[in-house]
Amino acid sequence: MKFFVDTADVNDIRELNDLGLLDGVTTNPSLIMKSGRDIQEVTKEICSMVEGPVSAEVTATDFSGMMKEADILSKIADNICIKVPLTLDGLKACKEITGSGRLVNVTLCFSANQALLAAKAGATFISPFIGRLDDLGIDGMELIAEIRTIYENYDFSTEILAASIRTVNHVKQAALIGADVATVPPATLKALVKHPLTDKGLEAFLADWAKTGQKIG
Ligand code: G3P
Repeated sequence: MKFFVDTADVNDIRELNDLGLLDGVTTNPSLIMKSGRDIQEVTKEICSMVEGPVSAEVTATDFSGMMKEADILSKIADNICIKVPLTLDGLKACKEITGSGRLVNVTLCFSANQALLAAKAGATFISPFIGRLDDLGIDGMELIAEIRTIYENYDFSTEILAASIRTVNHVKQAALIGADVATVPPATLKALVKHPLTDKGLEAFLADWAKTGQKIG
């Protein structure tokens, strides 16, 4: 499973990238707003830090507007992945952009049929939003499982990018189902390492080691 970080905060991205944990980054208009930075400037900085795809979202809602913005965003760096919303215009833009050899992440997916359409439009990634479905009392993981089955039925190469991940359990469930990628907020990504028995075990090992009076090297 690939890990993307879902943020436009360059400090968080740098830290996780230095740990060797990052396969890419996803941003959206809300995350850009949160960063307080200019979209082109911050996206350029992120693209220079990370080797993998960096999703940058168009904000136009019509096809030609999306294509204009996609062309501007594409010029930022070679690893830009254009993010388009799951609308008819977004799907049309997806087909056109992937047709020109660029990466596309189709976002705001809340149903298996939407994911089917995105795959038919040649999407590189489909982003089903788990947490936002859970918020409504609908099991977001069920959607991931449905998309996995449909994509396997027809050998679609579109990668399932589990998005709107809120908990470490979301990451585990998405991995068990076989999502290709999880885009995870920085704090949740770092929390994956945590287990109280690891901390307790390490503490006991260090205490015993101190009693030996030894040093390695
Ligand atoms: O990047 C899209 C998605 O991950 C947003 O998550 O928590 O705002 O639903 P959230």
